[in-house]
Amino acid sequence: MSRETNEATERQIRSLLQRMTLAEKIGQMTQLNGDEGRVSDALADRVRSGTVGSILNEVDGPTQQALQRIATEESRLGIPLIFGRDVIHGFRTILPIPLGQAASWNPQTVREGARLAAAEAAASGLQWTFAPMVDIARDPRWGRVAESFGEDPHLASVMAAAMVKGFQGPDPTAPDAIAACVKHFAGYGASESGKDYNTTNIPENELRNVYLRPFKAAVDAGVMTFMTSFSDLDGVPATANAFLLTTVLRKEWGFDGFVVSDWDSVRQLAVHGMTETDRESAFEAVTAGLDMEMAGDAYLSHLSALVEAGRVTVAQIDERVGNILRVKARLGLSDRARTPPCSPPEPASARAIAKRAAVESLVLLRNDHRVLPLDRAALDSVAVIGPMADDGYEQLGTWIFDGDPARSVTPLAALVEGLGPGVDVRYVRGLETTRSRTATFDEAATAAEAADVALLFVGEESILSGEAHCRADIDLPGAQVELVRRIRRTGTPTVAVIMAGRPLTLTNVFDEVDALLYAWHPGAMGGPAIADVLFGIESPSGKLPISFPRVAGQIPIYYNHKNTGRPASPGSVVSIESIESRAPQTSFGMTSFYLDVDPTPLFPFGYGLSYSSFEYADIEVSAPQMDMAGSVTVSASVSNSGPVAAVEVVQLYVRDLVGSTTRPVKELKGFRRVELSPGQSKRVAFVLTADDLAFYGRNQRRAAEPGEFHVWIGGCSTTELRGEFRLRVEDR
Ligand code: BGC
Repeated sequence: MSRETNEATERQIRSLLQRMTLAEKIGQMTQLNGDEGRVSDALADRVRSGTVGSILNEVDGPTQQALQRIATEESRLGIPLIFGRDVIHGFRTILPIPLGQAASWNPQTVREGARLAAAEAAASGLQWTFAPMVDIARDPRWGRVAESFGEDPHLASVMAAAMVKGFQGPDPTAPDAIAACVKHFAGYGASESGKDYNTTNIPENELRNVYLRPFKAAVDAGVMTFMTSFSDLDGVPATANAFLLTTVLRKEWGFDGFVVSDWDSVRQLAVHGMTETDRESAFEAVTAGLDMEMAGDAYLSHLSALVEAGRVTVAQIDERVGNILRVKARLGLSDRARTPPCSPPEPASARAIAKRAAVESLVLLRNDHRVLPLDRAALDSVAVIGPMADDGYEQLGTWIFDGDPARSVTPLAALVEGLGPGVDVRYVRGLETTRSRTATFDEAATAAEAADVALLFVGEESILSGEAHCRADIDLPGAQVELVRRIRRTGTPTVAVIMAGRPLTLTNVFDEVDALLYAWHPGAMGGPAIADVLFGIESPSGKLPISFPRVAGQIPIYYNHKNTGRPASPGSVVSIESIESRAPQTSFGMTSFYLDVDPTPLFPFGYGLSYSSFEYADIEVSAPQMDMAGSVTVSASVSNSGPVAAVEVVQLYVRDLVGSTTRPVKELKGFRRVELSPGQSKRVAFVLTADDLAFYGRNQRRAAEPGEFHVWIGGCSTTELRGEFRLRVEDR
């Protein structure tokens, strides 16, 4: 936006603020839930009197237009409403869950998906989505891990920026653009014990180095709004946390959009035990820096009395309202109110985008004896088994308010089509739902016995992940493990495709299958995407954006942990079985491990197989030393040593060996999707500057610190291909 436009907007805001009454200002700070397809007299009066600034969950076009007409033509100052909705991973056409999108490691795909979702939502009259959720999630028990981009701050930052740019487009006033809302500020993903809304305690250094980074990336990408978290942070609920909302967001980052609370989270300050009354909750939230209250009436009922009592100043109110008016102006809402919404994108192109996103989200975790890809010409019969094989609703995942399950193509439908009439496809659901405990698997076993290959579609139905849908036991639910084992006993080669909203603990089933493809909740086009990968039309290229624990007791388990003073080495890990009785306490170990479980994850961050294989060699760092103002280039050769053309996600990791606060053992600093034909080799280079190496040290300021660095390039966080360099302060 040009300086002139900005100045004109600021003048317009000042002029409006001068003319607004206190009640109208407080109205702008209030968001109400819609009446779902009708304009009640009460709501119409509220809009006409200017005592509501935003409406959420109204998706009926004519209703929105009627309300917007009242706001712009019948209210005293004609300030438009802003209509918001959770458009999380698609609007009508559902894309993979965000965690699945992150597995693509492809920001272009994520951006294109958000562009599509924005256009579909805007066609429905919406102007604002409550996405992306960028909470760093190291706990797969937490149901909202599905909405996250996983455990890594760099990957999440890249994806956050891509999604923001996708929703808002190059021009936020365009009819197919909507405002993004980065959430939940901040720390929500660290909810204790993986239980939603739970307490979070995150030391400031960890908060800054890990949890805040994707939020900052969203600000740099131009995000227009923020949402606070339901949770408290070090004892202060996020909705009234002045450190977050004022010190960090406004003073350090210079954010000038607006901040909305989460659903009724202002009044919940009293439930947290921060305040005694709604009036005190309104006081705490507004003085901490919260601009708009979602779905509660603490602001509406109490702000004016607080101003009259002199506890909240008009200047404070004006600042909050100004932030809201600025976003409305930047979205061009007054002009939009005069024009009909854009038309929805073509369904065929929407399906193509959803399919590409789903293909890229699939992660191949096991493929013994190259059972995949399936050779269609060699197949006479295929058994398709499991509760997720033919359920167009369950493959969509959480948060699909407006998704149309009729647009879903299930794996069964896609397999039948792809295999053609010459192959006998026998489908047995096996279990009514993924949670069902009782069933006999005879029919499924008979189908598997008669088939050349058994394709098992298991996992978690949608309702088992998402908000408030946490699980303490993250094994495959219900009797699915038994189902997998029963099919295994038939001796027929078995491929499991797992659809789930989180990493599941797969220790129970991993050895029971020949191949395992992780599909998350892949969205509407999950079926065709999976079929293309099973048939080898596409080679899988997804990589895990989050570590998969062996057992839930390892949680939180993440690759970018600290070294500790006593790290485990392979030689120091002792298994419970090998301990002699009455062995002295200090006779073994004394390092950081478990007696009963291998301390490593079952699948590490960045892991994912392909139908080809890749070899990495010759890592090179352009210079042994780097000055603070300079850079080094880290490069390595990657070659496709397998039989098919495929995409590999090349990953760059760094370790800062010594820091004023302890540093992670590895940190992702870059990645690139590289396409290679069989036998082809490419050199992949990454440039590192001091900014890439900077972190918040003991003084909580962001800077790179001189010293020794290790760098790795490879196809997974466990890569061992290492180089090194030294960062030094220039001689003067
Ligand atoms: C969720 C938010 C969501 C809001 C509005 C809340 O319960 O935590 O993420 O945007 O509802 O639906």
